[in-house]
Amino acid sequence: MKGKICVITGANAGIGRETALGLARLGATVVMVCRDAVRGAAAQEEIRRLSGNDQVHLVLGDLSWQDSMRRAAQAICQRFERIDVLVNNAGGIFSRRQESPDGIELTFALNHLGYFLFTGLLLDKLKGSAPARVVNVSSIAHWLGWIHFPDMQFRRFYFAPLAYHQSKLANVMFTFSLAQRLAGSGVTVNCLHPGVINSNFFKKTSGFERLVKWALTPIYQTPEQGAGVVLYLASAPEVAAISGQYFVNQNTAPTSPLAKNRQMAERLWQESEKLTGFHYAE
Ligand SMILES: NC(=O)c1ccc[n+]([C@@H]2O[C@H](COP(=O)([O-])OP(=O)(O)OC[C@H]3O[C@@H](n4cnc5c(N)ncnc54)[C@H](OP(=O)(O)O)[C@@H]3O)[C@@H](O)[C@H]2O)c1
Repeated sequence: MKGKICVITGANAGIGRETALGLARLGATVVMVCRDAVRGAAAQEEIRRLSGNDQVHLVLGDLSWQDSMRRAAQAICQRFERIDVLVNNAGGIFSRRQESPDGIELTFALNHLGYFLFTGLLLDKLKGSAPARVVNVSSIAHWLGWIHFPDMQFRRFYFAPLAYHQSKLANVMFTFSLAQRLAGSGVTVNCLHPGVINSNFFKKTSGFERLVKWALTPIYQTPEQGAGVVLYLASAPEVAAISGQYFVNQNTAPTSPLAKNRQMAERLWQESEKLTGFHYAE
């Protein structure tokens, strides 16, 4: 990956940190997008030390806040001449309903609109760097998801798993829709399930989500294992031409039938453009 510039969101912890470390070890220039200066700088230092690669950079940005995303994307476009790989990874689950600084339900704002807007803001750079790759970290949990029109933001009734499953289904739909729009551009788009990973993911949860965390204990894998498929999609030559697929381990895998619902995906796309004020060029 020498000479390649890879941008990873949520790169200071969990799967994102291990992805950043793996890419740094492969010789890539790594751009970590993190929301907290102290946590970000500590991870940056550690990744530089462990990889022996000093081309590990930090850009600050809150992926749930659209102004912050715009500033981060602008900083990246100014500082780096190209983007070969974008890994959309930052995400979370929230036990009680919260809103982003833009007043959007936080799971939807971070896990879906964060991917949608950040990719859009970096797309010209990605296209100009083609062949380039976008890798979206989704989840097998998308199988349980539904896009809850007309209450996608759960104003009437909030339950964390519903919001999370919706957002991960949205990641798969976004991947398929974008791959179709980018056909022939030299930019590929794929998504994945990383496994069930013992990261900080459930750390700030309570109640039902805690129970889920406990129930999953026997099948937990390490964040390093979770980063395996991300690294594969970001760097393996054999997937360079593959686009619009969902991966589990290093294989394409079936998605839920709903993930292929074109009508629902198009409606989600329109709503996402409305909520971000960002319009992808046709
Ligand atoms: N863990 C699993 O079993 C599992 C399974 C399937 C899919 N996934 C997906 O994998 C991805 C990574 O999860 P993980 O398990 O690695 O979780 P994690 O350990 O909690 O790491 C999440 C990363 O995202 C960052 N982040 C959270 N909110 C952010 C914001 N508003 N702006 C910028 N960065 C933000 C976190 O930064 P801070 O340190 O500042 O919070 C952290 O670096 C998520 O998309 C998740 O849905 C996870």
